[in-house]
Amino acid sequence: MDKVDLISGITVDGLEVLAITLDAERNVIGETVLCLNDEERRRAEGLRRGSDRRRFVATRVQLRQILASKLGIPPSEVELVYGRLGKPRLSPRMPAHDLCFSVSRSGDVAVIALSSGHEVGVDIEAVLPVPEADEIAALCFSASEYGAYAALGPEDRLEGFLGHWTRMEAVSKALGCGLGQLLSWQESDWAVRRFVPKPGYIGTVVVRN
Ligand SMILES: CC(C)(COP(=O)(O)OP(=O)(O)OC[C@H]1O[C@@H](n2cnc3c(N)ncnc32)[C@H](O)[C@@H]1OP(=O)(O)O)[C@@H](O)C(=O)NCCC(=O)NCCS
Repeated sequence: MDKVDLISGITVDGLEVLAITLDAERNVIGETVLCLNDEERRRAEGLRRGSDRRRFVATRVQLRQILASKLGIPPSEVELVYGRLGKPRLSPRMPAHDLCFSVSRSGDVAVIALSSGHEVGVDIEAVLPVPEADEIAALCFSASEYGAYAALGPEDRLEGFLGHWTRMEAVSKALGCGLGQLLSWQESDWAVRRFVPKPGYIGTVVVRN
């Protein structure tokens, strides 16, 4: 991979999850950036913090390169469309447009999950203290999820919280909706897999059965 480094990858039952190091200090310049379209460049220019801009650009270049290699076309020709709340998908005009993907970034890591024909969602978080975790859990987790979280000992609380949180985000991203619309998701419809994209991070990927 050019300019960004693959940390790890898992492939299970048609699901591929690629974790990439994002170096926010390093400018992704030169030919790789030429694959971004005008809208992506405008979005990058609109990001005020240079590190956010570089992380977005590096992730989008990688996404284009990975999708292009699957489709057998140049990265600049990958055409994306967006759902009502911003979920990106391959345009129906693309070959193999049933290839589903999902992207997440946290700190210096980006993850791209790919699945053919099955909706996929991924979310990662750095394992860092979340002072409001108990309040968020009480507000956002289902009764059974909250019960399981509340039963954890203090040393397991943070990872327990982030595990639930990334699962909710992953499902919401697979569905293309906000967390508030998640109330009706059926757990039995999804294969859920927790993973560690890099030490110090936690991730969950979900694929619709
Ligand atoms: C999309 C969302 C899950 C992002 O989560 P996050 O933890 O902040 O960011 P992540 O790095 O994990 O994910 C970002 C990626 O999710 C994807 N994404 C964006 N909107 C999405 C959506 N509605 N559904 C699925 N995926 C989405 C994009 O690939 C994005 O990558 P990009 O910034 O390189 O384009 C979160 O903002 C959300 O719930 N949005 C739903 C839409 C919504 O409620 N909008 C409120 C508008 S008022």
